[in-house]
Amino acid sequence: MRKVLLASMIFTLPILADMDRCVACHGVDFEKKALGVSRVVKNMSEAEIKEALDRYKRGEGGPMKEVMIKEVNVGVDTDAMAADVYNEIHTPGFEEPDSEFIFKKRRSVRGLHKIKMALKDADKKKYQKLKPQIKSFAFDLITYDKQLRDSINFDEIKPKNYTPKEAFEKVVAAKKCVDHSFKDEELHKCQRDFVTLAAEISLGDAMALQKKIKPKDKKKPEEKLPQTAAEAEKALVGTWSVECAKGMEPNTWMSKEVTIDNNLTAKGWMKIYADKECKKLIKEIKNNYTFKVGSLTLGDDNKEAWEVDKLLGEEKKPVYTMVRFVAPNKVLVAGATKSNDGSTPQKRKNHFEDWWPPCLKKESK
Ligand code: HEC
Repeated sequence: MRKVLLASMIFTLPILADMDRCVACHGVDFEKKALGVSRVVKNMSEAEIKEALDRYKRGEGGPMKEVMIKEVNVGVDTDAMAADVYNEIHTPGFEEPDSEFIFKKRRSVRGLHKIKMALKDADKKKYQKLKPQIKSFAFDLITYDKQLRDSINFDEIKPKNYTPKEAFEKVVAAKKCVDHSFKDEELHKCQRDFVTLAAEISLGDAMALQKKIKPKDKKKPEEKLPQTAAEAEKALVGTWSVECAKGMEPNTWMSKEVTIDNNLTAKGWMKIYADKECKKLIKEIKNNYTFKVGSLTLGDDNKEAWEVDKLLGEEKKPVYTMVRFVAPNKVLVAGATKSNDGSTPQKRKNHFEDWWPPCLKKESK
């Protein structure tokens, strides 16, 4: 069944160059002047043969060019045809390869020819677009040919980044290799070179993609905010400084630097500035206090915040306020409103909107 299918495919595709046809006019070894007018092809180099075939392909030639124009148009491309002719002439006892080989070679010649022409003078952008074509043709080759597939050790192939020109040159070399192959082993070697190229490109792209994805993929350690009062107290230990104060108003008291130790004693400076940028310092006082974290409740914006009792000075005069963790190392400190002045637990500072609060950032150790 497979044989029949293959045979019918061969007949529907023009085969490489049916040398038997040439013999009638050129002689068995291309030793005659065809129809008395052509050169003796046997004495021509491969490059000269190709040149002559290219001329016919362009519609040019000698007085009897029409005969050859027809022949050339049946062939695949002139590189492969010239290689065929030259090889046949110069290989003693040359035997026409079997149909299956011709079919396989033809597929390779055709595929590589297309890729080669497309890659020629391709810039980076065009090359990028052509990569799928290269990969897909290589995939075709190995899918079709188990022997070829088994002869490639994919584990040994390393990612590579080719420039468009380098890739083009590799394809040209593989195509040239295929043109000059007349046996299975020879053809496989050339196909292997091409499949390796495609695999190197594929792996190179995969690596590049991985690099691009990595920064996003690198998971930040889960930012876990304190869940209990004890955790909140522990999280507050450290050195804090003002990172931002939304729309600071002039003449605002604010804590610029605070260090909180394990006994929840805060040492810092309360400073008063005349400007929003905190550049013109008007006054500063040392402001040591201890504090205690109470329960998790809601600020006046109905979002969670911790109750904090600050105990100021020698008398431990309490100021009731709230803090909100926006990150493990970033807290907002509540500001007072008219009704919430921080003087009684019920009227603790709970205002997290508008120009207040300053946002404190803990310095990382
Ligand atoms: C019907 C006869 C005929 C057949 C069949 C034929 N050729 Fe030719 N070939 C000619 C003639 C006639 C010329 C010279 C044409 C011209 O005036 O340019 C020629 C020219 C050539 C040339 C160029 C030689 C030169 O003078 O520069 C090559 C190469 C060639 N043929 C190869 C082939 C191949 C390969 C085949 C088979 C696929 C083939 N020919 C089949 C008649 C034939």
